[in-house]
Amino acid sequence: MTTTLDTPLSSIDDATADLLFREARTVKRFTDEEVTDAEIAAAYDLMRWGPTAMNISPLRYLVVRTPEARRRLTAHLGEGNHAGVLAAPVTLVVAADTAFHRHMDRLAPHMAGIAEHLDGQPDVREHMARMNAALQSGYLLTALRATGLQVGPMGIQDAAGLEADLFDDDAWRALHIVNVGRAPAAEGATYPRAARLEAAEVSRTL
Ligand SMILES: Cc1cc2nc3c(=O)[nH]c(=O)nc-3n(C[C@H](O)[C@H](O)[C@H](O)COP(=O)(O)O)c2cc1C
Repeated sequence: MTTTLDTPLSSIDDATADLLFREARTVKRFTDEEVTDAEIAAAYDLMRWGPTAMNISPLRYLVVRTPEARRRLTAHLGEGNHAGVLAAPVTLVVAADTAFHRHMDRLAPHMAGIAEHLDGQPDVREHMARMNAALQSGYLLTALRATGLQVGPMGIQDAAGLEADLFDDDAWRALHIVNVGRAPAAEGATYPRAARLEAAEVSRTL
């Protein structure tokens, strides 16, 4: 366990803090064990409770599982990410739904007329969708780890091409992908752990 905190955690135990944060690693090679759609849905069931602006909840995900779907996905990724995606048990494409306002009657019933208001503001919706889905992506990575899974997030080289090829909803914008597995492979699973910045380096107090 590595920690820079002198103050003990009060709400979760050390093992949980290690699982979710301190010992959690970005995994690039996994064992072959299957990861089911139900396990991914269980992680979604946790992460959906994380906060978003006006509760817009714009994160969407595409589960890429078959060899054919993986090959189509790699066409839109940098060369260095192909092998990891082809070998991962499953890969998620994380997206932002710019038409999130279709659900606002359910998600924000206290905000009468908000869906109609946002309907005429596509640029505002795109900004809101991208920012809040990126926030939710972090919740998703943590929730997948809480579900007992291992994750390896990666960037997308050609997001527009991926969207045209793989999404059936033209309001979705591809943000990044996440390879998901049950356990790290015995060898070559991670890069050496790099440092993180200290709280004093990244904060200012007024
Ligand atoms: C949004 C995002 C995009 C990333 N893109 C790539 C990528 O394209 N290829 C890659 O090998 N790793 C990628 N990474 C992995 C990061 O380099 C890695 O999570 C980070 O260095 C921390 O590693 P650690 O969790 O092992 O400490 C990405 C991570 C995130 C969150």
